[in-house]
Amino acid sequence: MSNNLLAGKVGIISGALDHKSIAWKVAQKAHAEGARFVLTNAPLAMRMGEIKQLAEECGALIVPADATSVEELENLFSQATEHLGGKLDFVLHSIGMSPNIRKKKHYGELDYKFFQQTLDVSALSFHKMMAVAERQDAMNEWGSIVALSYIAAQRVFPDYTDMSQAKAMLESIARNYGYRLGKLKKVRVNTISQSPTKTTAGTGVGGFDAFYDYADKMSPLGNAPAEACADYCITLFSDLTRYVTMQNLLHDGGFSSTGISEDVVEALMKMNS
Ligand SMILES: NC(=O)c1ccc[n+]([C@@H]2O[C@H](COP(=O)([O-])OP(=O)(O)OC[C@H]3O[C@@H](n4cnc5c(N)ncnc54)[C@H](O)[C@@H]3O)[C@@H](O)[C@H]2O)c1
Repeated sequence: MSNNLLAGKVGIISGALDHKSIAWKVAQKAHAEGARFVLTNAPLAMRMGEIKQLAEECGALIVPADATSVEELENLFSQATEHLGGKLDFVLHSIGMSPNIRKKKHYGELDYKFFQQTLDVSALSFHKMMAVAERQDAMNEWGSIVALSYIAAQRVFPDYTDMSQAKAMLESIARNYGYRLGKLKKVRVNTISQSPTKTTAGTGVGGFDAFYDYADKMSPLGNAPAEACADYCITLFSDLTRYVTMQNLLHDGGFSSTGISEDVVEALMKMNS
């Protein structure tokens, strides 16, 4: 069902790798709500080709950019504003990657070069995007910028290792740049802290199936699916949330406020009997 919530709005959507990606669903929903946008991803992801299907479906231009490269981001923002015929109303940062997680290194043996890459790709890239947008004066007043986070920024999930620090940094960048862009341009900046979701990045984390099931059992509404996360992004891009900024918004079916649930008690009792 479409309500034309984004009619006339233009933006950039990063991170759509395949049909499971959260950004993929955001692009489909933004298109259905009347937005026009540029899709971007790392050149490596581009070679995998699936993003082209999405671009066709949404009538979107693809501009490759490694989000750690300021130069490539500058090209992305200038091509986007040129192609879309003006300044942007929304930007989605949906980017995360940890070489330490990929190499299955536990917290005590993290490789620090990898750690820096994790922070650069998953957190600093958000700062770089907004700094480029500021320098190019690429955002319209009352625009909206959203990045995706995870509750490991606040609580320990051992297998999430250095991504926990990356998410803490991402949320801090959202608050600090949110202040700056709010003052400068009335642009809002928020993070959405999403439930575990079965995507390439999500399932790459060790023990994913177990903490997916655990979070599902702990959340009174169950884990929030990618489609629902996309819906939430759309509301944040729309004019209905103009005064929401500098927030980390929990989109987790109630997980973060639940101490223990009957389902978890039941599962533990079964295990113990
Ligand atoms: N899946 C989950 O359980 C979950 C939960 C909470 C938050 N998130 C966050 O949601 C966001 C999107 O992840 P997803 O779950 O849709 O997985 P995904 O694997 O589909 O998306 C991750 C994207 O990051 C892109 N990327 C990696 N390195 C890049 C770089 N250098 N430059 C540009 N792009 C790069 C990948 O190509 C990919 O498209 C991430 O920030 C992730 O941490 C995911």
